[in-house]
Amino acid sequence: MKKGKVDALLGIVFGDEGKGKVVDVFTPRYDVVARFAGGPNAGHTIIFDGKKFVLRSIPSGIFDEGKLNVIGNGCVIAPDLFMAEAKELEAAGYDLRSRLHISKRAHLILPTHRVLDRAYEAAKGKNAVGTTGKGIGPTYSEKAARTGLRVGDILENFEAKYAALKARHEQQLRDLHYTDYDITEEEQRWLEGINYMRQFQLTDTEAELNRMLNEGKNILAEGAQGTMLDIDHGTYPFVSSSSTTTGGVCTGLGIAPNRIGEVFGIFKAYSTRVGAGPFPVELFDETGDKIREIGHEYGAVTGRNRRCGWIDLVALKYAIMVNGVTQLIMMKSDVLDGFETIRACVAYQKDGVTTTDMPYDTEGWQAVYKDIKGWQTDLSAITSAADFPEAFRNYIDYLEAELHTPITIVSVGPDREQTIIRQHVS
Ligand code: GDP
Ligand code: IMO
Ligand code: MG
Repeated sequence: MKKGKVDALLGIVFGDEGKGKVVDVFTPRYDVVARFAGGPNAGHTIIFDGKKFVLRSIPSGIFDEGKLNVIGNGCVIAPDLFMAEAKELEAAGYDLRSRLHISKRAHLILPTHRVLDRAYEAAKGKNAVGTTGKGIGPTYSEKAARTGLRVGDILENFEAKYAALKARHEQQLRDLHYTDYDITEEEQRWLEGINYMRQFQLTDTEAELNRMLNEGKNILAEGAQGTMLDIDHGTYPFVSSSSTTTGGVCTGLGIAPNRIGEVFGIFKAYSTRVGAGPFPVELFDETGDKIREIGHEYGAVTGRNRRCGWIDLVALKYAIMVNGVTQLIMMKSDVLDGFETIRACVAYQKDGVTTTDMPYDTEGWQAVYKDIKGWQTDLSAITSAADFPEAFRNYIDYLEAELHTPITIVSVGPDREQTIIRQHVS
């Protein structure tokens, strides 16, 4: 990485690619790790020394003592969930207060935003998005409507502002005839969370980050969700509500586009999706079940089954284009160890039309596959790219040629140590 730059690490498919693991591995090389979008809909798993953490709002650089971690202005934050997450880390011996700054411009998720999330989903019926129920959509809607509450609001006259917004939400819920809810206990924890957050450094992180860049420090922007869940570039309306792409790094941290250095695009050796929406590569047979079982493809946040399928080169090419990906990171390669043949989706087909470009409406398209010989070797104990079996090397070479982007890191297991650098990462 170059001095004075922001490198981005972005999920480039439907989320859960393994961002948390790689951010944790990368942290020693950076001065700052910053989240720029999303909130507790994210679940980033980090495993080291036999310990496992699932982070939702707190950046995955938090385990490295000397590093600043930032929750940026583009994020949304639920005080009660933040408190639970932070207390767990504090109990495990990590001192957050000295190493975590939260932007005063980040938006607050209210308990009633979560009720509204459920109400909107219920109103959509069979067209429901299958959200994580964390109030993400209603909070970002409120931000765009210019009626939201921000972290900085908790520093002054907060109770009145909260009561006014809550009353508006209650009216909206009555209008939706969604009145069967009780947030009494949740609200108490949430208000406790507000008090707890007051003990943290709530700052103008945008100015801080730019100051640090001017001093030649470097920043790792930790993506949440993935490109295909981006509000603009994903499979709308089956998306999340934030900008998960490189553009979102700039707006979500307050840094200029010419500060962006490397863009790491992270993907799995196969595909998964949680929640509803088009997924042309989805497997409904025992192969899909086998991938789910071996890959433990159950949601880190909701525990839901992740839908599984083969790798999708149409989606990957599109995401590489939208994000300006400079290096690819392939995760969970070990999950495909036992397959005699693996497949890659090279195009979509519908009504006699074949395309390799991401269509406007991904509904109803069928995947066109290329078969690839599996490696049928246990990758999980391999520590050097030189020891990769030939068939696996061929798979990587094929993907690099198709995607016109180098795969510089390959992950062969969930542990920090099971990360293989293939080429020099700048
Ligand atoms: P994130 O949201 O992108 O951070 O990803 P998640 O944490 O939601 O999901 C990734 C899951 O895969 C986690 O359970 C990780 O522990 C696990 N994982 C990450 N890398 C690998 C890998 O290379 N192999 C295997 N088998 N599991 C991995
Ligand atoms: P990480 O950061 C996978 C999905 C939800 C749903 C849609 C909208 O762990 O990769 P939302 O609650 O955001 O309004 O839900 O987006 N979704 C994710 N899927 N990984 C995530 O985050 C996700 N965050 C949201 O399942 O389909
Ligand atoms: Mg996740």
